Amino acid sequence: MLFSRLPLVICWALSPLVVAQTCQLQFDGRVPSDLAATDFDAPNDIFSETFVVGQGLTFSQALRLLPVGAGSLVLISDESIFNDQVGFRRAELIPASNDGADASTQGVKTLHFSVRKDNVRPLNLSHEYQLAFLESQDFSTNQLVLKTGTILGQNTADPDTLQLFGNVNEGQLLFSAPFTPDIFHNFALTLDFDQLTTQVFFSTGEDALVAVTDVLQNDVSGQGQFHFGVLKKPVGGVGDITKNGFQPDGIDEGVIFGGIFQEDSADGCVSLSP
Ligand SMILES: *[C@@H]1O[C@H](CO)[C@@H](O)[C@H](O)[C@H]1NC(C)=O
Repeated sequence: MLFSRLPLVICWALSPLVVAQTCQLQFDGRVPSDLAATDFDAPNDIFSETFVVGQGLTFSQALRLLPVGAGSLVLISDESIFNDQVGFRRAELIPASNDGADASTQGVKTLHFSVRKDNVRPLNLSHEYQLAFLESQDFSTNQLVLKTGTILGQNTADPDTLQLFGNVNEGQLLFSAPFTPDIFHNFALTLDFDQLTTQVFFSTGEDALVAVTDVLQNDVSGQGQFHFGVLKKPVGGVGDITKNGFQPDGIDEGVIFGGIFQEDSADGCVSLSP
């Protein structure tokens, strides 16, 4: 099962996507139905209880577990300020076993996740958001990052787009797709940490994943941690934008995630079937 919870905030007539995972797991972020948001405030087998959440907040304030099949909602508010980064608002889930130097960034692995809008808590597309990314162990780069909104330093034709970039030091756009309401967008990214490549598989809803890129050169070296959630960047910032730029007050924004897991693809195994 990809998701173990069904819709709460929105009524979806169709059952959600289920990618049947058939390869050996590296980590599993699919939340069993017997867990509550408060279970993520203490050490658990699924996500870090410490990172990344606003100072003074707990994950039970930044996370809503939706009923079976619907995934988990990650929330940001004015209080979502991590580590004095007053330029950002952020809340992200990191897999519990992913300590930055573990096997999730070694060999060949395929990262799966699905992302969906929360119509009740829309993002502000005047801003840039990072929804999923790999941050290197020395925090010097993101080797992969899924963005939406108005991307800083670029001319974003349509901010209501999911844009997947490779290593931000090179700035290569690997894949993009409209961020369509009321449907999950399913990603699988095969990461070869020896050959330094990335291949993107994608589908929406309950469709099987299909390869949407070739095997692309992308510098995924440097190990690190996978983040899933909402990192909202400021507008009008200069220099170190973690510390400056404008963030409007009174926000209540969120994004729904489901089907976060990683499998071992050293033998070529990639789960694609719904
Ligand atoms: C969206 O962000 C812009 C830039 O920060 C801000 O001026 C505007 O008020 C925000 N819109 C909403 C609906 O919050």
